Amino acid sequence: MDFRIFDNFFDGILVINKERKIIYANEKAREILGEGVKEGGSCYGLFSICKNCPLELVEEEGKGVQVYDVITKNGKHVCLSMSPNAEGGKFLGVVEVFRDVSRVIHYMEEVKRQKEFVEVILNSIVEAVIVTDENGNILEHNSSAKKVLCSEVGEIKGKNIKEVIGLSIQELPSEGERVDLYVRTPCGKQKASVLVSRLTVGGGYVLSFYVVPELFITEKEEFKIITKSPKFIRVLEKIKSVAELDVNILITGETGTGKTLLARYIHLLSPRRENPFIKINCGAIPENLLEAELFGYNKGAFTGAVRNKPGKVELADGGTLFLDEIGELPLHLQVKLLHFIQEKEFERIGDLKPRKVDVRIVAATNKNLKKLVEEGRFREDLYYRLNVVNVEIPPLRERKEDIPHLVDYFLKKFTRKYGKRIEGITPGAMRILLSYDYPGNVRELENIIESCVVICEGSLITENDLPEDVKSCNIRNKEIGEKERILEALRKAKGNKSLAAKLLGIHRTTLWRKLKEYGIS
Ligand SMILES: Nc1ncnc2c1ncn2[C@@H]1O[C@H](COP(=O)(O)OP(=O)(O)OP(=O)(O)O)[C@@H](O)[C@H]1O
Ligand SMILES: [Mg+2]
Repeated sequence: MDFRIFDNFFDGILVINKERKIIYANEKAREILGEGVKEGGSCYGLFSICKNCPLELVEEEGKGVQVYDVITKNGKHVCLSMSPNAEGGKFLGVVEVFRDVSRVIHYMEEVKRQKEFVEVILNSIVEAVIVTDENGNILEHNSSAKKVLCSEVGEIKGKNIKEVIGLSIQELPSEGERVDLYVRTPCGKQKASVLVSRLTVGGGYVLSFYVVPELFITEKEEFKIITKSPKFIRVLEKIKSVAELDVNILITGETGTGKTLLARYIHLLSPRRENPFIKINCGAIPENLLEAELFGYNKGAFTGAVRNKPGKVELADGGTLFLDEIGELPLHLQVKLLHFIQEKEFERIGDLKPRKVDVRIVAATNKNLKKLVEEGRFREDLYYRLNVVNVEIPPLRERKEDIPHLVDYFLKKFTRKYGKRIEGITPGAMRILLSYDYPGNVRELENIIESCVVICEGSLITENDLPEDVKSCNIRNKEIGEKERILEALRKAKGNKSLAAKLLGIHRTTLWRKLKEYGIS
């Protein structure tokens, strides 16, 4: 066959015989593949598919194959088809037809890169962004959207906006106007700042919104619980809904997060509020005295029992029994407590007849009770009896938005107590308080403010009034942060100081000074 008719074809054409030798290459094939394409020479290695050359497959099946993205030995992307070249039913080899698609591949990669770029940007902003069609059905969203709308709701793609925020697309503000309104999400009713934009391509809308936290203050003056944290507000709302029921509640949270405060609040909201709130700290009383404290004793029950004494359980009759640090309760008393919860009766030490009381139990712990159960240190049946409702108080470092409000509250409390005239706190001191981690949570912040009020001589609390460990922790944090950033920039710049300074956005001489300061060579 005379292959010259292919000479001026727009596609590259190679005719290969069964021995994988090039019989013919047209002009375009030479142009795409470059030098080295010789008639009579081997075709092996011209394309990335040569390692798994489909020639035999084509011979066996008697029909061609097409591969969309093949890389040539000189790095071009081609779309290639390989068809059998047969004469009178005899397989002679194949004809390869290929077209340079490097630009198309480049555009596709660019589109992919742009898409990733947009995704990274969208997912790095804290505002929730949701794309809907004309009717408000969700087509796309960023990762913040799930967080703002509570991650528990599962996939929101495909749902209508009405289902996830309680408002239909028609009920949202007009385009381009940012408005604060109430949305209803699985986290409850929340105030949100919403902006609606119209999509010019394809129709539909982009909604972007963030939750505007509202300060929550319990209405009872004597039990002020202040928070702006949506997570903590949810806890308080849960409490409001169960406080009236006689269910046992287990409060978990780190030390100083407000567990005792919350237990009192539960009592105050319950119908038992006029009756006693009795607290017992299971971790603070020696083990041998704990039973007597809890269940009481009769005269003569043991040496020193000179008269009858009711236990906390009895004192709490009609009211609430708050079992603090429940994780510390010894196993033998766990059995007795379980019996008491199940039967509503108990015996004083040295008493033979059981007594009946009516108490609601609220327990608290800063331990992981579930883990204690796994380790065999806490009875599982008791755990479930106490944990009918579980509320978890987030640590202060996870709700730093509360700090300014708590500072304000404690400042008022202690200026009143110490009769001082302090109007506030300097921005510098507040910055330090905001950057501190509070291992002792709200109690630690309360103590810090009390000591500041005592020390402060002016009308504003300044950095100098703050306790040393808070200040030094702040300085250490700052140092670690900056040193780490410098080392990271140097790593990225492969040791090139000028480039590292550029990456850090600081002047070269500043970097040199800081390297000296931190002892980085
Ligand atoms: N949200 C809050 N608003 C106002 N005051 C708070 C708040 N949370 C805690 N406090 C105050 O912080 C202090 C510590 O709270 P509380 O004693 O209830 O913590 P706790 O979790 O029971 O601590 P522990 O684990 O040590 O028993 C108390 O003086 C309490 O009034
Ligand atoms: Mg407590």
